[in-house]
Amino acid sequence: MRKSVLWHADHIDTLRAMGRELHLLTEVPGLDVDGRFAAVTVIPAGLPVREAVDRAVAITAAEGIGTALTFAETDIHLTSLVNRRLGHAWAVPEADAIARDKRRQREFLDEHGLPTVRHAAVSSTAEGLAAAERIGYPLIVKPTHAAFSRGVALVSGPEELEGRLGDIEELARSGDGNYFTGAERTYALLEEFLPGEEVTLDGVVLFGRFHLAGVINKMHMPGPYFEEDFYTLPFRRPELEPELAGIAEAVVKHLRVEHCLFNIELRQDADGQFRVVEFSTRMSGGQNYRNLREVHGIDVVRLYVKALGADGHEEVWAGETPRLPARRATCITYAYRTGVVLRNTPGQAALSPHFQSYVPVARPGDRLRRAPEGYDIAGSLSVAGPYREPADVDRIEAVAAELDRRLDVLVVPAPPALPAGGAG
Ligand SMILES: Nc1ncnc2c1ncn2[C@@H]1O[C@H](COP(=O)(O)OP(=O)(O)OP(=O)(O)O)[C@@H](O)[C@H]1O
Ligand SMILES: [Mg+2]
Repeated sequence: MRKSVLWHADHIDTLRAMGRELHLLTEVPGLDVDGRFAAVTVIPAGLPVREAVDRAVAITAAEGIGTALTFAETDIHLTSLVNRRLGHAWAVPEADAIARDKRRQREFLDEHGLPTVRHAAVSSTAEGLAAAERIGYPLIVKPTHAAFSRGVALVSGPEELEGRLGDIEELARSGDGNYFTGAERTYALLEEFLPGEEVTLDGVVLFGRFHLAGVINKMHMPGPYFEEDFYTLPFRRPELEPELAGIAEAVVKHLRVEHCLFNIELRQDADGQFRVVEFSTRMSGGQNYRNLREVHGIDVVRLYVKALGADGHEEVWAGETPRLPARRATCITYAYRTGVVLRNTPGQAALSPHFQSYVPVARPGDRLRRAPEGYDIAGSLSVAGPYREPADVDRIEAVAAELDRRLDVLVVPAPPALPAGGAG
């Protein structure tokens, strides 16, 4: 996991509880003191994929490591390439390459007649402006390879589109965040706007078959920017679950994946029909994994890891909890703040019986910005309560908002930027 392991503490705990010895490959220095890993190798940031694969394969040979694993979006393709080199036929790099590229996802959905939107991939502002006339405003513009909604915007006319395309081109050129490798044919995607409700669905593919973990409600985001917040469980509209799981199943079938974690985001069009926003061969980040387990019992990381080393389907399910009807309500809220961080801890929020965990992301001295300047959060707070009736989902959301206010996150206004050459 090249960028960070912060988001995946629960996933790592599961691997450790299964008795696995972990060797971390990362770009982040200083993790060799983290006792969860038997060994840590730091590679330079932004290595070309082929070189990173060679480095990983060399470590597996030296250390007798059998399998590569990741939970991070930007590493799914690399990890599959490593597993292929290790001789694992279940690794399907082609599926991960599609998942890493929003343009290829749209082409894939078209090809297989799956619910998608009108779209155009572009590699220049002129191309973008021409394509926009065909799709019609308002429309969504986004980078083909980013995450955390970075660069995603709803635009209502050509002037705005031009500005947004310029920003995306800059992100693509910068190599920032390992999103773009420099080898991409196009950097931006224009899409028809889906105005309705949005969900994110997680599951696991075992022996080519999709198993649902749960459908997570998301806060409605009307645009123009899409800062995400309030991921709640269980799904408010369980009657729609079979339809949504059916779309996931169809995607998985055509991807021809054998074993993988799987996430798909869907949003309703003006007629209320769910269409795919994006999908990936990994699961939702952060505390969603633990919340799916708390709410529905099923442990997708355990099942996935068991499948990687198993001969048959039965063996994987032996002793495991199947997916259960909802038994708890959970909510994740992102601590959005603006300014320079002085302190960032859970504070009094941790004393609440609803408190599950707080993952601080920002460090003292970091500057936090809101969209469109930045998509920064101080941290991610997860809370839980009982589930007896649908109104409990609203209740746990209100609890999350209240505990967010009790976090010990102190920020001060950022100093104004100095005029060019004014630093003297
Ligand atoms: N065609 C669309 N219509 C309506 N909203 C959209 C569309 N595409 C994206 N969005 C909104 O923007 C958000 C981010 O878009 P998308 O998932 O494509 O980018 P991302 O950077 O991979 O996001 P993340 O990593 O946060 O999931 C979506 O969750 C959705 O709310
Ligand atoms: Mg997304």
